[in-house]
Amino acid sequence: MHCVCIYHYGGPEMLTCTEAPRPRCGPGEVLVQVHAAGVNPVDWKIREGHLKEQLKHTFPLVLGWDVSGAITETGPGTSRLKTGDEVFSRPDLLRDGAYAEFIVIKESEVARKPRTLDHVHAAAGGVGSLAVQLAKTRGAYVVATASARNHDYLRGLGADEIIDYEHMRFEDLAPAMDVVLDTIGGDTQERSWKTLKPGGILVSLVSPPSTDTAAKLGLRQAFVFVQPHAAQLEAIADLVDAGKLKSNVETILPLSEAKRAHVLSQGGHTRGKIVLQIV
Ligand SMILES: NC(=O)c1ccc[n+]([C@@H]2O[C@H](COP(=O)([O-])OP(=O)(O)OC[C@H]3O[C@@H](n4cnc5c(N)ncnc54)[C@H](OP(=O)(O)O)[C@@H]3O)[C@@H](O)[C@H]2O)c1
Repeated sequence: MHCVCIYHYGGPEMLTCTEAPRPRCGPGEVLVQVHAAGVNPVDWKIREGHLKEQLKHTFPLVLGWDVSGAITETGPGTSRLKTGDEVFSRPDLLRDGAYAEFIVIKESEVARKPRTLDHVHAAAGGVGSLAVQLAKTRGAYVVATASARNHDYLRGLGADEIIDYEHMRFEDLAPAMDVVLDTIGGDTQERSWKTLKPGGILVSLVSPPSTDTAAKLGLRQAFVFVQPHAAQLEAIADLVDAGKLKSNVETILPLSEAKRAHVLSQGGHTRGKIVLQIV
């Protein structure tokens, strides 16, 4: 099969288009023919070796852990899914990813894709745009930070207030918040403490917020790292089919343009998703 892998950590030039044997599925696994693979920031972070302490990879490594496709083979001990099912997944980051024509995934990490979306759109959207919509489904009042070009987009997703972080200091404008979701880290994370009400929680996806600062300010903190989970994916598919969750695909590229996709992702201003279309 065609795939894109890396043999060493490094820049986008490490992404190599190559041929590899089609993987076979073992017990509890399914073989998925990849139709579309989402390109996420974690892909270039792994490519550059930023996560090599946490994730012990071996090379060559196929990148890409966000996939939509069709099951072509099921391993012994699988029962929930069958050949021909159209599925999506956020597979295990420790194993080969989806920049390939085929990927083997544990059945427990795979869900049927939303009926109302094609494969390109079934790769879940960028974190911020989904977080806004999920918070609205839970009845939250949502304040979002974004550059001006994204304000109409965020309003369309349901954000109640939008702060232009490029021209204003969000910590002076945000009302007292119960929860802050940090997808940026660094100085943005530090300044976020000021926006929380007593007992509020700062949740980061990028780096663990200081426990000392949280204790000193009477606040809480958490660091979350996404785990593959079929039941959660099924709940997301149901929200999509109910019209409550939309994803925006900014760029669609062929597998052979994985390098360009990484340069775009690393730019840090993707609206929604970058997708490699394989079928
Ligand atoms: N821990 C986990 O499990 C987990 C899971 C998924 C993602 N992540 C991490 O979360 C981060 C976001 O992921 P993603 O997929 O959403 O990335 P993405 O698709 O590249 O989105 C980046 C977004 O950040 C916005 N942005 C850039 N600088 C900003 C700033 N200073 N203040 C506010 N917004 C800013 C951009 O909007 P503008 O164009 O308006 O600036 C853009 O929409 C990445 O670091 C990723 O690795 C972690």
